[in-house]
Amino acid sequence: MARVAVCPGSFDPVTLGHIDVVRRARAMFDEVVVAVGVNAGKTPLLDADTRVELFARAVADQPGVRVVRMPGLLADLCREVGASAIVKGLRGGADFDAEHPMALMNRHLSGVDTVFVVGDPGLAHIASSMVRDVARHGGRIDDLVPDGVAAAVRDALSTQGESR
Ligand code: PNS
Repeated sequence: MARVAVCPGSFDPVTLGHIDVVRRARAMFDEVVVAVGVNAGKTPLLDADTRVELFARAVADQPGVRVVRMPGLLADLCREVGASAIVKGLRGGADFDAEHPMALMNRHLSGVDTVFVVGDPGLAHIASSMVRDVARHGGRIDDLVPDGVAAAVRDALSTQGESR
């Protein structure tokens, strides 16, 4: 039976760090389902459909990887897709501190364990929140994100600016 991993996140926007984690997850599992979810503590810059589309475009060349929208609980999605594991990337200890309670809650709800992978250290400075902040202040983000993402972030920021 194919072993499926779920890589969940807000991906607001997807970064090269996320792509690295998905590639590592795919090396360990037959199929990877990237789940674009809602973090109750965050108001996203990009709408969910855009986040799904940008991620899907970035992994279009990777067989065995698909991207879905996760409207509800990660535990429910894990059940739907028959996940053997949740895979998340760690850049350092602060990531672990944030991920640990989520991993426990997800195992409580679904029985599915979270597997942590250490990403490429050359990408450890990249976080979606910082990418948004750099872009917001006019900095260059093109080499931090997959092709087409920087333009989408700039578009979203300019639309947001107009609506204020
Ligand atoms: O990239 P993020 O913001 O750390 O991703 C967090 C996300 C979206 C994976 C998390 O908030 C999530 O799983 N949301 C779905 C709702 C859920 O299952 N909540 C309880 C598990 S912690």
